[in-house]
Amino acid sequence: MLIQTLKFNLMSKAIPYGRQNITQEDLAAVVSTLQSDYLTQGPKIKEFEDAFAKYIGCKYAVAVANGTAALHLNTLALGVKSGDKVITTPITFAASANCVRYCGGDVVFADIDADTYLLDINNVRALLEASPKGTYQGIIPVDFAGRAVDLDAFRKLADEYGCWIIQDSCHSPGGYFIDSNCDKQHCGNGKFADLAIFSFHPVKHIAAGEGGMITTNNQLLYNKLMTLRTHGIVKDDAAFTNDIAFAGGVDSYPLWYMEMQDLGFNYRLTDFQAALGLSQLNRADEGMVRRREIAASYFEAFQNKSFIKGQSGVVDGHAYHLYILEVEDRLGLYNYLRTKNIFAQIHYIPCHLMPYYRQMGWKEGDMPVAETYYKHCISLPMYPTLTDEEQQFVIKSIISFYNASFRN
Ligand SMILES: Cc1ncc(COP(=O)(O)O)c(C=O)c1O
Repeated sequence: MLIQTLKFNLMSKAIPYGRQNITQEDLAAVVSTLQSDYLTQGPKIKEFEDAFAKYIGCKYAVAVANGTAALHLNTLALGVKSGDKVITTPITFAASANCVRYCGGDVVFADIDADTYLLDINNVRALLEASPKGTYQGIIPVDFAGRAVDLDAFRKLADEYGCWIIQDSCHSPGGYFIDSNCDKQHCGNGKFADLAIFSFHPVKHIAAGEGGMITTNNQLLYNKLMTLRTHGIVKDDAAFTNDIAFAGGVDSYPLWYMEMQDLGFNYRLTDFQAALGLSQLNRADEGMVRRREIAASYFEAFQNKSFIKGQSGVVDGHAYHLYILEVEDRLGLYNYLRTKNIFAQIHYIPCHLMPYYRQMGWKEGDMPVAETYYKHCISLPMYPTLTDEEQQFVIKSIISFYNASFRN
């Protein structure tokens, strides 16, 4: 009886599709920063940036308020303007596309690959080939669900057409792909993309409440991003354009002096969020091991099931932000899981069919692979603190739903 009650209590606890894990070390790191002299833009920001750059394997990192701000700063720094055309995937969070619109550019969606669920390079190539060179300014591939895009191939294509690349790696810190030289290339390492971005929203690998990071190997872009993050303000004497007398100095600029030279934003991260991110980063490898274990168990459980049309699978370098199944009767399964307190999620409603993008002429049938994928996809619980018992409960619930459906 006691065991049964315990079991019920365990299983009646809600199981979301993703969740943060806050430890005593995280709490101590945040409290100690809150008790320090800095709440925003103190030493933890630089520490987090340096540690993150090291983890990803790039030269520069810029911490910002969230992943959307990171994307916006990227399109600003790359000079996106009205009439520019940028290609991205419809299976992503809207921000991957919206960042082009923030700067007045046009988003051009290209369909996904049915097996990887990633932007299909063949569709991007077809678009580029169909118009004169110079028609498109950039490409935004997304490491959707944590699966790393083959950026080596995208870079070669982008170079042929003079396009920049922003890699949206919100789902893939710690993920990698193997390049054409058989080298491991970590997502966002700046080797192929001009800029890459990450998010520290609670369901992501590293949680900071809100938060984002831009990574790059390009010093010019790095300098620009650092300025744009804080209102376009510069504090370096050598960069000032107003003269010393105007500034109020005699032989040199006064110490208070600064100039706003560009139209930037306040997209700063706070120091206590950086402390949390830094503390979480210390456990990133551990979390990745657990995510891969969970993925392997899902794969094993579902690989021969007739109701499964597709799944994330076991893929080298996959960072498993999400584990996706493609199923029949997705709505039935989703609702059934909710009765079991399992809160699966759908990633994503195709971006081109959001009312905002429909207004621009996008319609059903434009992205057939993405639209078919959307009809069947469901994201299962995937986070490092998901226990084996909880995962088995999720698996059993899915199997029992389909066993019952087949009997009816
Ligand atoms: C693929 C992708 N890009 C961009 C973002 C935006 O990040 P944020 O929520 O931190 O603004 C997200 C977050 O959900 C995302 O999943």
